Amino acid sequence: MTAGFLDAFTRLDGATVVVTGAARGQGAAEARLLAGLGVRVIATDVVDPDDLPDDRIVFRHLDVTDEEAWARLAGELAQDLDGTPLHGLINNAGVTHRAGIGHTDRADWDRVLAVNLTGPMLGMRALAPLMGDGSSIVNVGSVAGLTGHYTAAYTASKWGLRGLSRVAATEYGPRGIRVNTIHPGFIETDMTADAPAAMREAQLELTPLGRLGVADDVAGLAVYLMSDASRYLSGADLPVDGGFASSAGAKHLADRIAAGAQHVSQ
Ligand code: NAI
Repeated sequence: MTAGFLDAFTRLDGATVVVTGAARGQGAAEARLLAGLGVRVIATDVVDPDDLPDDRIVFRHLDVTDEEAWARLAGELAQDLDGTPLHGLINNAGVTHRAGIGHTDRADWDRVLAVNLTGPMLGMRALAPLMGDGSSIVNVGSVAGLTGHYTAAYTASKWGLRGLSRVAATEYGPRGIRVNTIHPGFIETDMTADAPAAMREAQLELTPLGRLGVADDVAGLAVYLMSDASRYLSGADLPVDGGFASSAGAKHLADRIAAGAQHVSQ
């Protein structure tokens, strides 16, 4: 059993996986980890990569909102793979807009939904036909998609993505293709570099594991979902957030009660 479990990761050797938004942050971490396991990674983004050192990582520009770009990628991969199924797709590209409904312009709303929700739909629609039994799709949601986070467009896009992932799990399951959604908590990347200090502090206070996340915390889960070790897992929502969403503010309550108890015993 142990050897079989570890083999699930070595069997990724030679597989092809497409990762969107892979120039930096979580997508780049996922690309690096997969490449280290011998995966040929098609790393895509709208910006040039910071650093993709492994020669198994092939970088190409692809805007996830561009239907024709997806069709071109699908056409090239079909030729390239020559009948071998595409192993995986990680729909990781995303943008945020930190504002409530009252401060969300129509253009912001459209942009965020286009990248975070329409992008994964176009990606799955274009690439699922190239996949087969054992292939895996990972959609990157957010704890915002598990809660009533204050970011209106971002939160709506990630809740939408959860629903779309479940549709995909139902639609592709009979072909042996698994689809799961992962929900990172606050991860230290360019996306959160400009987050308000108060957001960062509150997030830390509400995270039971007591630290913010880094890209590699998420990459391990994405790679597990790409591997055969997760072969019976599909249609799931998996938080990777140090316990933040499960706690649902209960940590705040517990901390306040503990502080009160200390106060009484002094
Ligand atoms: P990041 O900003 O470092 O990386 C996102 C990447 O997506 C960037 O390289 C960006 O150029 C790319 N991108 C943006 N628009 C694109 C488009 N139209 N087409 C292709 N690529 C595009 O942020 P991070 O943290 O690595 O984000 C990765 C995913 O994780 C996103 O879906 C984000 O919503 C999600 N997430 C991030 C959290 C965080 O705290 N950093 C928390 C929860 C979810």
